[in-house]
Amino acid sequence: MKIAIIGLGFVGLSLASVLSANGTKVIGIDINKEKCKKISKGVTPFFEKDLEKTLQKGLKNKLEISHEVSRIKTCDYIFVTVGTPQKSDGSIELSMIKKVVSTIGDNLNKNQIIFIKSTVIPGTIKNSLLPILEKKSRMKAGKDFGLISNPEFLQESSAIKDTKFPHAVVLGGYKTKFMKKAEKFFSKLHPKTQIIVTNHQTAEMIKYANNSFLATKISFINQLSNICQNVPGANIDDIAKTIGLDPRIGKLFLNAGPGYGGSCLPKDMKALINFADRIGVKPTFLNEVEKTNQKQISNIISLLEKKLGNVNKKKITILGTSFKPETDDIRDSISIKLIRKLVEKGARITVHDPKAIENTKRVFLDKIEYNKSIIEALTKSQCAIIMTQWKEYSKINNNIIKKMKKKIIIDSRRILANKNIDADYQAIGIGID
Ligand code: UGA
Repeated sequence: MKIAIIGLGFVGLSLASVLSANGTKVIGIDINKEKCKKISKGVTPFFEKDLEKTLQKGLKNKLEISHEVSRIKTCDYIFVTVGTPQKSDGSIELSMIKKVVSTIGDNLNKNQIIFIKSTVIPGTIKNSLLPILEKKSRMKAGKDFGLISNPEFLQESSAIKDTKFPHAVVLGGYKTKFMKKAEKFFSKLHPKTQIIVTNHQTAEMIKYANNSFLATKISFINQLSNICQNVPGANIDDIAKTIGLDPRIGKLFLNAGPGYGGSCLPKDMKALINFADRIGVKPTFLNEVEKTNQKQISNIISLLEKKLGNVNKKKITILGTSFKPETDDIRDSISIKLIRKLVEKGARITVHDPKAIENTKRVFLDKIEYNKSIIEALTKSQCAIIMTQWKEYSKINNNIIKKMKKKIIIDSRRILANKNIDADYQAIGIGID
């Protein structure tokens, strides 16, 4: 058994590392030669808990890294995990995946199975990818080779755990001998996980359903948190915790905050909205979820301006630039959007993040200040805004706060809500008495 994985981002590199660490023969393929070089040396191109050690274990087990897609020739299974970035109208860019699939077609052998893990809108596999593969390979899908949609549900910051123990495995495609083989492979790999076998377009839609529901939960709790913020004494966390006890609701993804960010939820929401619009279904509800998310940042800015007035030339500290803790990823991070807006307003921004400073520097260069320590970041600051739920920020105490010029803290994640701090403390979702 030999497996090729094309596209070594969070999904592809995690899968390649986990499978090879378990002893499966794997070739990890990425067109970026620099990235390949780094990975071959056991260095991950981004920070992800447990990934580096899993990769190094995989490399010891002869995980091969290559930039040539033609290397798929000798593999039984081919996983496609390349990105499908967002276009300006919200739809997804398919050129990268089409190019990869075309090269796969050129090199395809009989009985190979291709799994599409990349997120694509319903109909893409059947209407766009399958015809390319059949034309290029001069073979028939379902008869000569397998083509299966296999969406991924891993979260950044728990990518390795999620790759090893997914909550579900979805296999979309025709019910052929290839599907039977795929079912067998996944049931051996994840004996405790339910496998859902369906058609291509349903599998593609499941991915969007999953992410848009998560986005919905977040916008729901954010809207409630905005109501609570205006009810003296109300606390959104107690509300979320309690409704989460109702099994029909569930406790996860009910943490109010500055809005959802990252490379997936915002992109998938926009792609689904764009798709629904194109096929003539008005996505009114999804539109509201997205709008609620986009408006959430103004909640933070108005709290800030209520406290400081005009922010021009004022030193403001942003704590956390990654889109969530335990990652250095700042893609579509709300914190980055906030910094941009505050820089436009003339504020002097100083930032701290335990992992994402290097990525943040690439965006703002010398327009803002960067700090390695929280104390340094807060010294002489007129206001601190906590944007990311890094556990480091729960250690902020009065000794640190006293270094500030004005002791104003805006906590978008309520990390310090239960601490006895000597500051003008404002938090999203907490109504101040
Ligand atoms: C998301 C999904 O959770 C994964 O299941 C999916 O596989 C992935 O997208 C993808 O499509 O590839 P991820 O982007 O890693 O994963 O991040 P999440 O953990 O979903 O967080 C997204 C955003 O929502 C973050 O900004 C986070 O701070 C925010 N969030 C999350 C909240 O504000 N409140 C919550 O309760 C949960």
